[in-house]
Amino acid sequence: MNIDFANLQLQYQKYKTDIDNKIQAVLNKSNYILGEEVYKLEQALEKYTGAKHAVTCSSGTDALLLAMMAIDIQPGDEIITTPFTFISTAETIALMKAKPVFVDIESDTYNIDANLIEAAITKKTKAIMPVSLYGQPSDMATIQAIADKYNLRVIIDGAQSFGSTYNGKTDSSLGDISVTSFFPAKPLGCYGDGGAIFTNNDKYAKTIKMMRVHGQNKRYHHKYIGIGGRLDTMQAAILLVKLSHYKREFEDRNKVSQYYTNSLPHDVLTPVIRPNRTSSWAQYTISVKNRDDLQNKLKDHGIPAAVHYPIPLHLQECFLYLNYKRGDFVNAEKASKRVLSLPMNSFLAKKEVLHISRIIRSALNL
Ligand SMILES: Cc1ncc(COP(=O)(O)O)c(C=O)c1O
Repeated sequence: MNIDFANLQLQYQKYKTDIDNKIQAVLNKSNYILGEEVYKLEQALEKYTGAKHAVTCSSGTDALLLAMMAIDIQPGDEIITTPFTFISTAETIALMKAKPVFVDIESDTYNIDANLIEAAITKKTKAIMPVSLYGQPSDMATIQAIADKYNLRVIIDGAQSFGSTYNGKTDSSLGDISVTSFFPAKPLGCYGDGGAIFTNNDKYAKTIKMMRVHGQNKRYHHKYIGIGGRLDTMQAAILLVKLSHYKREFEDRNKVSQYYTNSLPHDVLTPVIRPNRTSSWAQYTISVKNRDDLQNKLKDHGIPAAVHYPIPLHLQECFLYLNYKRGDFVNAEKASKRVLSLPMNSFLAKKEVLHISRIIRSALNL
């Protein structure tokens, strides 16, 4: 049985005619930068997420930068976030010359522990940046209540969670600003780099639209220092096709996660999704004691598995200057040693998931 982790090739084959036609249409028009597909996609994203504004951009990383530019993050400002995430979350805070302030995660959802946030607030705190890790939103009610109490902004790093909900609302429609990534392997991915910023705030949307085109409000008139951060028309065209299949893919990923959870042995810690939330299942991530052994054994059987993430951010060399040390965030450190993401895509068949579960059972001698 040949099992693919994200199975982008099969996905392309399924939507090939539509995608090829859309790409050809862009080539025929040669409207490569901010062509009509970009604006059509933004409208479709607004409709899908319920956010008032969707502004596409060049990547999830740039989306985070643009979001922080919109709320006017200044050097020395502090932003509270999780140490258990992809580097971009804190890297972009540091690029803004602001300071990432980490608080530990919940041991079961791997998301920021909202109950620890208040103790990390100082006079310099400007924002909270929760990450919807593996696709599940964080405890947004608690986070928003703290933000309201201390007049802080909330930027959601929803790079992994497009379409996921919290109390029935997509996490793109929550917080002051929410961002996502269209990196190819993300739940909604394009064929290169891409991202989007969502907000219900008219002023932020206007600023972000300027910031993604070098801060210009009129051609060659630059109100702000911005970036070259647009989404290519070609990528927007591809995303329009993929978005039209997304609802079904989202449901299918949820089915695949159920097959895993029902078939994996009890000694494996399976993902915990809180009752008021849904997940896009960017990753189906288990936790096991002998993680590296298991990953190697799966590899021997042709089953790809990945570690998201092996080193928590407070222990990364680039953040040594923040003076954190081992032991500061025990849940994040423990998770980094135990988590293992299994193949996840909407095309995984039940029999493939059962096969993977069987291999895991025998690898763990259960
Ligand atoms: C949590 C998180 N934030 C930000 C990003 C950055 O997105 P991109 O790769 O599109 O720049 C990613 C992508 O892996 C991510 O997983």
